[in-house]
Amino acid sequence: MSETQQQPSTEWVEVVSPDEERRHKQFAETIVEIQSKIDRKNGPGRAFHRKEVLAARAVVEVFGDLPAAAAHGLFAEAGTYDAVVRMSNGSVVPQRDAIPDVRGFALSVRGLEAPGALGGTTDRQDFLLINRPVFGFRTSQEFAEIVPVSAQGQTALIKYFVSRYGPWKGPLEAAKLTKDFLKPFSGFATATFHSAAPIRVGPYAARVRLTSRQDAMHLAAQLDFSHEVKERLKSGDLEYDLALQFYVDEAQTPIEDGTVDWSTDVSPYVDVARVILPQQDAESISGKSLSEEVEADTFDPWAALAEHQPLGEIMRARKVAYYASQQHRLADEAASESSD
Ligand code: HEM
Repeated sequence: MSETQQQPSTEWVEVVSPDEERRHKQFAETIVEIQSKIDRKNGPGRAFHRKEVLAARAVVEVFGDLPAAAAHGLFAEAGTYDAVVRMSNGSVVPQRDAIPDVRGFALSVRGLEAPGALGGTTDRQDFLLINRPVFGFRTSQEFAEIVPVSAQGQTALIKYFVSRYGPWKGPLEAAKLTKDFLKPFSGFATATFHSAAPIRVGPYAARVRLTSRQDAMHLAAQLDFSHEVKERLKSGDLEYDLALQFYVDEAQTPIEDGTVDWSTDVSPYVDVARVILPQQDAESISGKSLSEEVEADTFDPWAALAEHQPLGEIMRARKVAYYASQQHRLADEAASESSD
């Protein structure tokens, strides 16, 4: 253990503000309004991460003999589980892969039977990951202000920052936000994905990271990430390592601030499982039918074991928003099927 490294702690707390239930409901309504507008042109779809890059079958191998802090919930003991993966671009609209965007990796571990984070029993544990270690907004309220503006395009976004921060600071704040978007993305087979926000690991709290085990990058990936990852998977397995980074204290590993990247010097990641996407052809008949199933399916941070309950205000906002987005698109899909 290095000098700066600290032990995982169970002393984390969530701070719930009195007005957040109302705010979360209002934000979910705004999200569904934007989703409905985009549906009119593109048909039913997700409110965010609308474009699927790849749907794939996966296997998750949980390692045995994990450190005591990690050995809870899905990671309590060694085991092998079937899973489904949906890789996506984050935008509210489907767009070309070459356009800078947040990239999503949703992993749903199936075949479980355990108390769920929303009560009752759950048969799955979902991990929703993006290609950034931090969400970038302290709370969902800051994100809620940006979402409707950014849906109107770049010029509206600059105007918003100028009106909020003034003519000097405004463009700087806008640049800070877009800086992350413009960071190069190597592709879904080679990038690293993060939960950014924490979940429970039994009595502990941790962030989740998925690191690719493929190192060779393909330059052509930049033009069409979907084609590149599908081609790789057609000729061989793709492998990733799943790891947990534990909460140590509120100052260094905050539960309620989505702008702080937890330092790996203070809290290093602990590998807990291997995620394998076995060789498969996404363009085959079975690959296409899996893609249809995955599009209609739901991936949700709250589809989780009680022992992995999502933590913090951003996660609580997501509970309301994902449900609203799912209800809206499932109702839309049912309506368009009955009119066919
Ligand atoms: C730590 C921050 C976040 C991460 C890591 C994240 C990640 C993701 C991923 C990977 C997806 C794609 C799921 C799929 O493929 O089906 C997704 C979808 C979505 N996200 Fe997030 N997200 C974050 C924050 C938020 C916040 C703060 C909101 C709003 C309060 C939000 C709202 C949504 C919605 C509505 C969807 C579409 C859900 C559906 O209809 O299936 N996300 N997110």
